[in-house]
Amino acid sequence: MYIPKFKGKIDSPDILASLDIGTSKFSVVIAEASETGQITILGAGVAQSHGLRQGAIINLDQAVQAIRSAVQEAQLTAGIKISDVVVGIAGEHIHSVNSRGVVAVSRSNHEVIPHDVERVLDAARAIALPVDRKVLHVLPQEFIVDTEAGIKNPIGIKGVRLEAEVHIVTMGSKAEQNLIQCVNKADLNIIGLVLEPLASSLAVLSEEEREMGAALVDIGADNTELVVFKEGTIRHTAIIKMGGQNVTNDIALGLKTPSLQAESIKRQYGCTHPSGIRNGDTIPVPGLPGRQSLEVTDEAMMSIIRPRMEEILKLVHVQIQQSKCIDKLGTGVVLTGGGALLKGVDRLAEDIFGIPVKIGIPQGLVGLVESVSSPAMATGVGLIQYLAKHPSFEKEDNAQSDKSNPVRIWESIKKFYKDNF
Ligand SMILES: Nc1ncnc2c1ncn2[C@@H]1O[C@H](COP(=O)(O)OP(=O)(O)OP(=O)(O)O)[C@@H](O)[C@H]1O
Ligand SMILES: [Mg+2]
Repeated sequence: MYIPKFKGKIDSPDILASLDIGTSKFSVVIAEASETGQITILGAGVAQSHGLRQGAIINLDQAVQAIRSAVQEAQLTAGIKISDVVVGIAGEHIHSVNSRGVVAVSRSNHEVIPHDVERVLDAARAIALPVDRKVLHVLPQEFIVDTEAGIKNPIGIKGVRLEAEVHIVTMGSKAEQNLIQCVNKADLNIIGLVLEPLASSLAVLSEEEREMGAALVDIGADNTELVVFKEGTIRHTAIIKMGGQNVTNDIALGLKTPSLQAESIKRQYGCTHPSGIRNGDTIPVPGLPGRQSLEVTDEAMMSIIRPRMEEILKLVHVQIQQSKCIDKLGTGVVLTGGGALLKGVDRLAEDIFGIPVKIGIPQGLVGLVESVSSPAMATGVGLIQYLAKHPSFEKEDNAQSDKSNPVRIWESIKKFYKDNF
């Protein structure tokens, strides 16, 4: 996880808080993690998104106000004041690439030691980056020792050549700085930034599902985000610049109705698959000021909604195919994000992808579960789960600044395996 330098202290080591700055809503989740890793949801707050355009912050004050409002609601339900949050990051500025590093194992017994793993990961992450970009995540996929591939933990294996294949996610420095400024202005410290769809995948996919292979598709308002897992590790990530808001805009334009009404019609009556069409009932559509109201059939509504969802899902399909993992997705595709609530979207996706599709909601939680039991809360909950797996930010930083200490190196390598495999 990328850790900004100015991180603050966690209020209490067991209390975790997340902030998801989405294009339709800002959400804050407060939770507690037990020693066994059980997450208890203590509170959640949601505020309508303000001050963003296409995921970028364009009005700082409005965005800060919306963050404060979500924080206040979450604090009230949890009865806890928070000051430190893990924050999701996404948007057009996120890029990802697979990379490979190679080092020689030159000592006399040719046994791979933790220091070799650290060296090979450093080599893999050394990609040429423009000055305005930073590495957000380096996600190891597999190690290769001489000709033996598919190794998850190479330590102790003998060989002369160690290779690492990794998935590197980078972000735009300006977008990162804007996000940091905005969150800080709302009196919160950022203790880590996490790629949003990576967080969502932790909330809705089990470890077994990630191991079996799965594609996680988070359909948000302005963005649809994809993460492809094979054998438990990330193989591909992609962001498509379209989401549920495009469907709402199509309804507003197609039926000449105000945007707010289009949104509520979509949620109440919208359907993308013939299996959801009701018999004979019509949908009332309020007109724009000065225009008459309409009544449309479910079929007419579907003829507006379906092409856009098809367009989005076909672009997702192209990305899944590019990942070259489509025949390795034992779990199939899991749809989450608020856009997954559109009726029939799983059936439509199944027709397009040709593999099983299900809707994912946050799993394995206790406490105020109902406040986060929606696909729209997958990112907020997943950020908490990411934070629970990376509890010691202080130590992580020390480990980076103390690279020559062998005990530190061993501790960081052990942690690396615990976190990633
Ligand atoms: N019941 C519903 N039926 C259909 N669509 C819905 C429903 N509830 C929410 N949505 C849609 O989900 C989208 C918002 O999803 P979500 O809250 O996951 O987005 P976000 O995280 O704010 O946005 P992004 O991830 O793009 O930044 C909106 O387009 C909204 O219309
Ligand atoms: Mg989102």
